[in-house]
Amino acid sequence: MAEKQIPIARPVIGDEEINAVADVLNSGMLAQGEVVYKFEEEFAHYVGVKHAIATSSGTTALHTLLWAIGNVRDVLVPSLTFIATATPAIFVGARVQFVDIDRRTYNMAPEFLAHAISKCDGGAVVIPVHLYGQPADMDEIMDLCEEAGMVVVEDACQAHGALYDGKKVGGIGYAGVFSFYPTKNMTTIEGGMITTNDDDLAEMCRMIRDHGQREHYRHEILGHNFRMTNVSAALGLVQLKKLEKMNDARIRNAKILDEHLKNTGVLPPYVAEKRKHVYHLYSALCPDRKARDSLLQYLNERGVGARVGYPMPIYRQKVFHDIAGNFVHENAEYVVERHILLPVHPLVSVDDAHYIGECVENWWEKWTDGQRAKSQ
Ligand SMILES: Cc1ncc(COP(=O)(O)O)c(C=O)c1O
Repeated sequence: MAEKQIPIARPVIGDEEINAVADVLNSGMLAQGEVVYKFEEEFAHYVGVKHAIATSSGTTALHTLLWAIGNVRDVLVPSLTFIATATPAIFVGARVQFVDIDRRTYNMAPEFLAHAISKCDGGAVVIPVHLYGQPADMDEIMDLCEEAGMVVVEDACQAHGALYDGKKVGGIGYAGVFSFYPTKNMTTIEGGMITTNDDDLAEMCRMIRDHGQREHYRHEILGHNFRMTNVSAALGLVQLKKLEKMNDARIRNAKILDEHLKNTGVLPPYVAEKRKHVYHLYSALCPDRKARDSLLQYLNERGVGARVGYPMPIYRQKVFHDIAGNFVHENAEYVVERHILLPVHPLVSVDDAHYIGECVENWWEKWTDGQRAKSQ
């Protein structure tokens, strides 16, 4: 085994988090209560929205939100994302439609969204994902949806603190959702958050996540148990305070990798105009699948926990076989063949980041030598 071991993700947990959790455990008030409400208040303030509603995960945040919006017939999602962007739609009886991505940003491409919108007849929710920490094309997406009378829900599960044109993601669309899973830019272990400026929507979400009740044992509507615990929220409050610093470390590491990758044929993540990318993951593009697999093996053997990104566009996942139909999204297919994820989380030191970058450079030299030898 290599001496160095750099995992693809690792949460930053220190004494402050441990003490905050211990305080809640000692208080005896463990389930949803005052600590959750304080976390919601601070998260709403951070994102710059009126309301934040905490849930048990990013998946249940989206499920709650679609349920609260009501009468959703179609849900439009990018074809490259985590499965949970799309599956909550099924639970609320909506039809999932897939939208191809932009090859450079990996995000939902407005031109393909325009086409998908033309096939819907209203009652649609569009879910752009700020994939890997880079905001989607929000101006174009918001304009298209406004014109078509469609609702935009931002999937900001991978983009806490990212900015689009100076605005925090999760506060641009009608509503947003976040995940606090341990690999994310901040964590509550499991946990999620809905953000919105709409008072009625926020009230519906609060009721749905708690068995449809506003008052204890007065169940007005159908709901579920999608609550966050005080223990998780205590962790979240500390992590939120550290978020900007943790994002700065991710950005610093990404810049180091960018410099190294410039000397190779591996493309660093492209950052589009008007974006602050917070690098939930550093997703680079190799020339082809063979090169990607070779680089992956080379890095893994040297202790770098690089990974392949999503192995297929989500419309090819078995769970969607019955509904996806017969089509291929060329850009999503192009990216899944080539992308590789490199560690940039805050516990990757400057030295580690250079080490990863140098490994990629060394691999590139060997790879191109090998290619040259083959062609002679
Ligand atoms: C883009 C995206 N959407 C939704 C989710 C679901 O969040 P959770 O894992 O907290 O349920 C995730 C989490 O991995 C995600 O990356």
